[in-house]
Amino acid sequence: METRQLGFGGPQLTTVGFGAWAAGGPYVFGWGPQDDNDSVAAMLKYLELGGNWIDTAAVYGFGHSETVVGRAVREFGQPVFVATKCGRVRGATAADRPQSDLRPESIRQQLDASLQRLQLDCVDLFQVHWPDNDTGTALEDSWGMMATLQDEGKCRFIGVSNFDVPLLEKCHAIRRVQSLQPPYSLLRREIEAEILPWCLENGVGVVAYSPMQAGLLSGSFDINRVAEDDWRRKNPFFQEPELTKNLAIVERLRPIAEAHGKTVGNLAAAWVLSHPALTCAIIGARSPQQVAQNMASADWPLTDEEKMNVLAALGH
Ligand SMILES: NC(=O)c1ccc[n+]([C@@H]2O[C@H](COP(=O)([O-])OP(=O)(O)OC[C@H]3O[C@@H](n4cnc5c(N)ncnc54)[C@H](OP(=O)(O)O)[C@@H]3O)[C@@H](O)[C@H]2O)c1
Repeated sequence: METRQLGFGGPQLTTVGFGAWAAGGPYVFGWGPQDDNDSVAAMLKYLELGGNWIDTAAVYGFGHSETVVGRAVREFGQPVFVATKCGRVRGATAADRPQSDLRPESIRQQLDASLQRLQLDCVDLFQVHWPDNDTGTALEDSWGMMATLQDEGKCRFIGVSNFDVPLLEKCHAIRRVQSLQPPYSLLRREIEAEILPWCLENGVGVVAYSPMQAGLLSGSFDINRVAEDDWRRKNPFFQEPELTKNLAIVERLRPIAEAHGKTVGNLAAAWVLSHPALTCAIIGARSPQQVAQNMASADWPLTDEEKMNVLAALGH
């Protein structure tokens, strides 16, 4: 599988990364019920098919996803590049929305807890999940602690997620931002204007999340399969009339994918990967079957004509 370098001086990662959010199981931002054995089997399938990195976060199932990732990595028995995130913590009760916490000492404690759950001494990529709008901590202090933890060898690379250019610049002035993890899909293209050009210019790797817009663009999405406690039930992309409009786009994309014997999900991820600033697309999966389909997104360079046809299918 094709690999690309994650930012200036970074490691070679496979263009398809495994996203372990759903492996967190039910919680306030969960994907409904998810069997741990299915999650481990999905991760092992991904690694056996040549993928080399897994993305998780402390907040996914309040630690549960990291525990499951740790189990899969141990079962695989060979090196796997593991990325996790800090900065989102449980609210007053498990039913409350997670809160931001990027206070320096908290970041240190959050990393120690993640390493324990993952059963690792060092995490390969440690990312700030979201800017902190709750504790009033100065970003310079938070990023300073990220750099300290890197110097201490507790994480090899440090990155951010959901940051805009001013925030990226603030961090980059203190210590290199190895990567940005932004949302990017055919239905969410805001980062094309400023963020992607900035990353390209500054040698910051881009690992895009939700390339299939949380499964909506997979080509076989069915709202009736979505559990009552799945976060997508409340998300605007999945509400009418948007849902019907989005599924009509899927049908217009289908012939382009099928001409190559691929799924619409493969096309959606291949399109994301066709942007020159992109390093990887992180694709979530809940079973080995989904993984097997999703891996066909890699090694598919779209022609200019196909890219034009994809954009035409959006109806712009
Ligand atoms: N940094 C952040 O703030 C942030 C935010 C979001 C995501 N992420 C990361 O990015 C990863 C990927 O994003 P995502 O999971 O939101 O979106 P995604 O990759 O666009 O969609 C994944 C979902 O699509 C469905 N799916 C996967 N393969 C399929 C297939 N072959 N056929 C049909 N359905 C399929 C599955 O859900 P169903 O089967 O239930 O439909 C799966 O959970 C996450 O796991 C996480 O690691 C990060």
